[in-house]
Amino acid sequence: MTDSSFPLSGFGSTAVHSGHEKDPRYAHLVPIYASSTYVYDSAEQGMHRFNGTEPGYIYTRWGNPTFTEAENKIAALETFGLKDATGNQLQAAGLLHASGMSAISTLMIALLQKGDKILSHYSLYAGTEELMSLTLNGLGISHTLDDLSDLSRVEDHFKKDASIKLLYLETPANPTMQCVDLEALTTLAHQYKVLVACDNTFATPYLQQPFKYGVDYVVHSTTKFLNGHGTSIGGILLGRDLERMKGSVGKAHKLLGGNSNPFDAFLLINGLKTLELRMNRHCDNAESVALYLENHPAVAKVNYTGLSSHKEHALASRQMKRHGGMLSFELKGGMEAGVSCINRLKMCTRTVSLGTCDTLLCHPASMTHFAIPKEKREQYGISDGLIRMSVGIENEADILSDLEQALA
Ligand SMILES: Cc1ncc(COP(=O)(O)O)c(C=O)c1O
Repeated sequence: MTDSSFPLSGFGSTAVHSGHEKDPRYAHLVPIYASSTYVYDSAEQGMHRFNGTEPGYIYTRWGNPTFTEAENKIAALETFGLKDATGNQLQAAGLLHASGMSAISTLMIALLQKGDKILSHYSLYAGTEELMSLTLNGLGISHTLDDLSDLSRVEDHFKKDASIKLLYLETPANPTMQCVDLEALTTLAHQYKVLVACDNTFATPYLQQPFKYGVDYVVHSTTKFLNGHGTSIGGILLGRDLERMKGSVGKAHKLLGGNSNPFDAFLLINGLKTLELRMNRHCDNAESVALYLENHPAVAKVNYTGLSSHKEHALASRQMKRHGGMLSFELKGGMEAGVSCINRLKMCTRTVSLGTCDTLLCHPASMTHFAIPKEKREQYGISDGLIRMSVGIENEADILSDLEQALA
């Protein structure tokens, strides 16, 4: 149990200790509070909890001690080492959700109303694009996707269309590793009173902290690197506006009912403790794999922000600590070569999802992005032959030799 007055100077220590509160029964780890509701000593106490004059849990859809540790730990990591305008430690609040999609849905429904518009970019996680084009569109919330690398074009959107209320970013983006400039875009959006949200799933707070650049909201699919072991689905929505997080955003979270569950929260907490160690190993291995693939005669193109050949290498190097564990590549033989490579893998795993200890490969055109029409996919850089790889933490030599035999 860390004394709360002890200053944690490192990201790794923060990942291990932050968010933990002493358990009243002296359990070392936060228990899995498998309880839907909480009791009161008196009717008055119940009344005080409901009207907020006494802190305390009420009902697990509204909050749970196991969720709280995960929420506070991720908030501490996303704000680690950051200062607010007055020079104090930046504060953020987190709301744990049942999935990344649930966190993104709460964000968009809480912030937007009928007639509002979202500005976003190409090559987003396909579920996010579908949420905007199918579900939100039906509710009268529209969106525009564009190439956000041209700031004057972005400014034109803001100037011409006052209905844009949210700039939604994902960087690096799934599955092409396209990056957008968090600082420049946020500064511009704020000039037009547009809120900015960023999906930080691929980078994690160890590699990139969107709040550093003034971003208002951060979302994660915690299913991925934050959990790190593929043991649960989850998401988190974090915001710097604590009043709004407690108010309208918190209310939407409670009413939409996309809360997490105590077991998944417990698994997430345990995964988070090793985030720094895991991310460094993911990065080491991905750097080697990217270089190997770039020099392989069967490979036409490698998308990895750590390669100097990547269009946004300089930008990613500026806004990220390292380049992460995700990459994608295209084989010269197109779809057929891609399918055959995936089928020949012996150690690496054929599956969607990402951020687990083992190396995972998938084929976005037929799997994660199958619902996006081919011409749109190609416009986003997702060709039929593209393979996405989540590079794991196995020994580098084993990953390379599995690729070697699969590409032979
Ligand atoms: C970048 C990104 N954001 C959001 C999601 C959605 O997360 P979940 O599957 O936890 O709902 C995913 C899922 O793959 C993703 O890759």
